[in-house]
Amino acid sequence: MSGTVSPRLVGVGVGPGDPDLVTFRAVRVLRDADVVFVPVSDGHGPYGPGAGGDGTAVPGRAEMTVRSHVDHDRVVRLPFRMTGDADYAGPARTVADALRRGHTDSQRTVTAAAVTVAFATIGDPNLYSTFTALAAAVTALVPDLVLDTVPGITAMQDLAARSGTVLAHGTETVALLPLTAGVPAYQAAVDTFDTVVAYKGGRALPALRAVLAAAGRLDGPAGHAVYGAALGLPEQDIRPAGDLDVDATGPYLSTVLATRRPRWPGRAR
Ligand SMILES: C[S@@+](CC[C@H](N)C(=O)[O-])C[C@H]1O[C@@H](n2cnc3c(N)ncnc32)[C@H](O)[C@@H]1O
Repeated sequence: MSGTVSPRLVGVGVGPGDPDLVTFRAVRVLRDADVVFVPVSDGHGPYGPGAGGDGTAVPGRAEMTVRSHVDHDRVVRLPFRMTGDADYAGPARTVADALRRGHTDSQRTVTAAAVTVAFATIGDPNLYSTFTALAAAVTALVPDLVLDTVPGITAMQDLAARSGTVLAHGTETVALLPLTAGVPAYQAAVDTFDTVVAYKGGRALPALRAVLAAAGRLDGPAGHAVYGAALGLPEQDIRPAGDLDVDATGPYLSTVLATRRPRWPGRAR
């Protein structure tokens, strides 16, 4: 098969928000790609209003990180409705067009067969990422497509480091789930696993806090929980989950870690 080339779509994880938390490989792929798509909200999803669908939207988190590592002008905004029932057909057509067209600018001409298109996504591209559904939709439109991903640092890892939380040790078990799976699913995870990570929990924070309080896992000998919002961003908020008001909600970029043990010696912050 040597000499055979195919259009390539690469999902690149760019970490939770801090531009320092990006791998060398991610930077290399983003710099070399013929086109780098970055998702922006069309204004209807959980990122809320303030982002339009006309390509002039305020930059998303992924774009901010990409632009701190890349100074070429091949970064293109891709408007999305960022909800669970999102329609990926429109964005997929845009990406497929870029793959089929190849790329020409003052520096390079790349045929469609040899084109590499990157899609930057927060955290890791294989963990609750828009990239998964987008890539499936693009694959249906570009049959000879080669799909790759570059791993990224997840919000869970960033919160563990920033809060001094050991995620798991020895035989401890870990569960990760979105609060959009429902409070009963979260309750079951808290009953079953030593460490439970909750994503997408901003709106359900009061229910999550109540589950942890009833299990004695907010802060005490039965466990400890830490809340982190907007990690790595100017508005970052990290605190023990027990310090949250009982009815406090958080932004979409909220993560909660709950362990089944008190704080690790020497890690208290
Ligand atoms: C669509 S998922 C993306 C997960 C991402 N692919 C990852 O690997 O971490 C979005 C959720 O990730 C978490 N998240 C991502 N970035 C975050 C940040 N900067 N601060 C806090 N939570 C974040 C939040 O739970 C948010 O609801």
